[in-house]
Amino acid sequence: MFSHRVVVVAATLSVTLNRAMGVRMQVFNFGSINVDQIYRVPHLVAAGETLASVSLTTVLGGKGANQSVALARGGCAVRHIGKLGESDDWARQQMGEASVDVSSVALSAEPSGHAIIQVDDKAENSIILHGGTNQTISREQLTSALQHASKGDWLLVQNECNALDVAFEIALEKGLQIAFNPAPMTQSVLQLPLHRCALLIVNETEARMLADDPDADTAFDKLASRFPDTKLVLTLGSKGARFRYGQIEQSIVAFQVPAVDTTGAGDTFVGYYLASLTLGHDDNVALRRACAAAALSVMVEGATPSIPTQAELEQFLATQ
Ligand code: RIB
Repeated sequence: MFSHRVVVVAATLSVTLNRAMGVRMQVFNFGSINVDQIYRVPHLVAAGETLASVSLTTVLGGKGANQSVALARGGCAVRHIGKLGESDDWARQQMGEASVDVSSVALSAEPSGHAIIQVDDKAENSIILHGGTNQTISREQLTSALQHASKGDWLLVQNECNALDVAFEIALEKGLQIAFNPAPMTQSVLQLPLHRCALLIVNETEARMLADDPDADTAFDKLASRFPDTKLVLTLGSKGARFRYGQIEQSIVAFQVPAVDTTGAGDTFVGYYLASLTLGHDDNVALRRACAAAALSVMVEGATPSIPTQAELEQFLATQ
């Protein structure tokens, strides 16, 4: 524990020095890129039911890609580490057009990851994932991409790719700050050195599974005592978010807006929150911006198409 605290203090000092010298922190986001096939349906299909969809749209998605686009739209320098099938280079181009650095996004002969998403009239969704190239990332690709990272930079990770343990290992060796969003949650996450994360963002399901507690609130409190050196955020959808860091505790109220599609709202939150931190906002302001960005995103269909720009966010916040 003592040596971990020393590492945390050293990383914080290095970040402060970088800021003082005008060096801009970069986020390396190791994450999935999916082709999202969105089916609008009157209700989510039930077991044994056959249901006609109202429409089908194909867009860029994946928790990783969504978070990279949110980081970039939030004003942060972000380099995405991921992999796509050759026939889906359009997805890489779209990420580039959103100002994400895609020089560490590899193309391969294998099929890309994709998601089959149902969105119903209440804006709820259900998602089936196929991992594809998101599950064939090599140590070599991670090592090569992260050679561009410097001490104090962030490594952001979700749970839709393989080799998360390798990414954590390299990041810790290099003194990077790890931000982890264990979505979608699986038991394998419990094997990762989560106490070494600088930032952990979880929803209620993830908090319950991580803490092995059926109540999300007490689960979150357990995580706070288990990881005293980690900033913890619990996202609560339309109810806002909770924040814990050491003795500091805050609750953030969500903005109430009419929802069309909640797909990618959590990713928008994560991207905007981290982008705001790298821009120097304090946690309170960063959380408010993240909640506002997520609120704007649910008013538009699709994951990446719904992520607001900074200008849209400022305009929205000015009206609140
Ligand atoms: O969080 C939303 C994302 O989850 C979708 O874009 C889909 O691709 C899945 O990864």
